Amino acid sequence: MLATENLRKEHQLILKYIALMERYAEFCVNNAQCSMLLEKAGSFIEFIHEFADDFHHAKEENILFRSLEEPGVLTHCNPIPQMLNEHSKARELVQAMENSLHTNDNDKLKTAISQYAQLLKEHIYKEDNILYPMGERGLSDMAKASLLKEYAQTDQRLDSQTLWCKYETLYNDLEHQLITYTHPTATC
Ligand SMILES: [Fe+2]
Ligand SMILES: [Fe+2]
Repeated sequence: MLATENLRKEHQLILKYIALMERYAEFCVNNAQCSMLLEKAGSFIEFIHEFADDFHHAKEENILFRSLEEPGVLTHCNPIPQMLNEHSKARELVQAMENSLHTNDNDKLKTAISQYAQLLKEHIYKEDNILYPMGERGLSDMAKASLLKEYAQTDQRLDSQTLWCKYETLYNDLEHQLITYTHPTATC
């Protein structure tokens, strides 16, 4: 029984969005291209708020991390304060993205995107390769079963199926728009 499988799948979608957001930012070298970044940044921010933060980070903070902090689960070190600190930094960087969007400041937006992308990629690497394996080793089968039940309740409460569908569709749209803009003759 695995307690982190669904969270890993969520990481994959978050990483896909980050990579696409970086592609948009890299493409922004002149006014016309930057207006496209400003136009689409709101969609990326919406994904980060609704999926990466309200859904994924909330499941970690309210369910997984709480279980991992039970006595005897993490025996060597406790990386959770660092993980929580990184969630907070990520929220600050999203706020910086929103602020730069409101002032139409492309340079600040690109800087905030780059810092957010770097932070989240490193954060997800640490969770996938250090924290989650520690949890899989330390949690009992009973604790894992209880976690899975709590995830399922959260998935139901936040209608995760609709959320996944919405954001997979949005990803495809955003990717298609970038390809169409960068390769106007492309047919797909
Ligand atoms: Fe996290
Ligand atoms: Fe995570």
